[in-house]
Amino acid sequence: MHLHPFAWTPAGTLLILDQTLLPTQERWREIHSLEALLEAFGSLRVRGAPALGITAAMGLVAVVRERAAAAPRAGALALVEEAAEAIALARPTAVNLRWAVDRMRRRAAGTAGEGDAIVAALRQEADAIWAEDQATCAAIAEHGQALMRPGIRVLTHCNTGALATGGIGTALGIVLRAGERGLDPEVWVDETRPLFQGSRLTAWELLRAGVRHTVLPDAAAAALLADGKVDLVLVGADRVARNGDVANKVGTLGVAALARHFGVPFYSVAPTSSFDPACPDGSRITIEHRDAAEVAAPSGVRVAPEGSPVYNPAFDVTPAALVTGYVTERGILHPPFED
Ligand code: MRU
Repeated sequence: MHLHPFAWTPAGTLLILDQTLLPTQERWREIHSLEALLEAFGSLRVRGAPALGITAAMGLVAVVRERAAAAPRAGALALVEEAAEAIALARPTAVNLRWAVDRMRRRAAGTAGEGDAIVAALRQEADAIWAEDQATCAAIAEHGQALMRPGIRVLTHCNTGALATGGIGTALGIVLRAGERGLDPEVWVDETRPLFQGSRLTAWELLRAGVRHTVLPDAAAAALLADGKVDLVLVGADRVARNGDVANKVGTLGVAALARHFGVPFYSVAPTSSFDPACPDGSRITIEHRDAAEVAAPSGVRVAPEGSPVYNPAFDVTPAALVTGYVTERGILHPPFED
């Protein structure tokens, strides 16, 4: 059984595994209100593009369900609209948030009847979004096996495993599946500054799965590649533009440039729900900038003087020219993505 970072309570509210506490504590939080849901997104208690989409859908149901079910049709739709817009704006870079919320909106608007029927339909839609992502992850892991071979050494950045999705994961899912099949992959885990999604989350998942891995400071990736210790780079995506430019966790661009320099293939791994057909190229992707304290005082420990300005983008954009290919649930693709 793979881990899932969210669950329904029997009453129909949402539980999330608080990823800010990993790897030292495994604590679940119940999400009762829109404020709590937005706080969970903003604090990265739940994170990773596909998981954001699924949590957006489940969270929308969880936070409107009581009031909407008791409301007449127009009132229920208004409640859905209000919550949906706030959720879609919670994090600007991962397109999955807007993708999931728009799908929920369409389902609400297309459902006949009063509030109770709309809430029931939304719950079905959220379950479908989760189930589809699970199948999508499985298909990505399968297509990705074409890149695997016994003992392969993979460098990854951020966390793209079960914690970031509704299934086995995307980039990490490929490696986890290879491990299940006895290929004994080895993973180099970029710690992923400033919030350590690599060392806190990816390493935790790999340890649970019994996959060989080593954590490294992001700054050591260059030396690692120069030493010829990496066969393949696999990373996720928060948004893929029509021309193939990829927004992903900050630091991905550096890894991509290094991989090109040292002749190592670099693949972006993502479901097609992370592809944004409305976005022509990476210059049009909004990059989230985060609080200075994450850099200047990580975990409350001050490492830069009070008063020094901080630059803290959460994502960067890797140009399509640096990407060897895109592993999706439909196979390994190459731009332009006209379909
Ligand atoms: O800020 P985060 O932790 O949500 O950033 C996550 C990433 O950048 C992942 O690589 C991406 O969302 C893909 S997750 C399968």
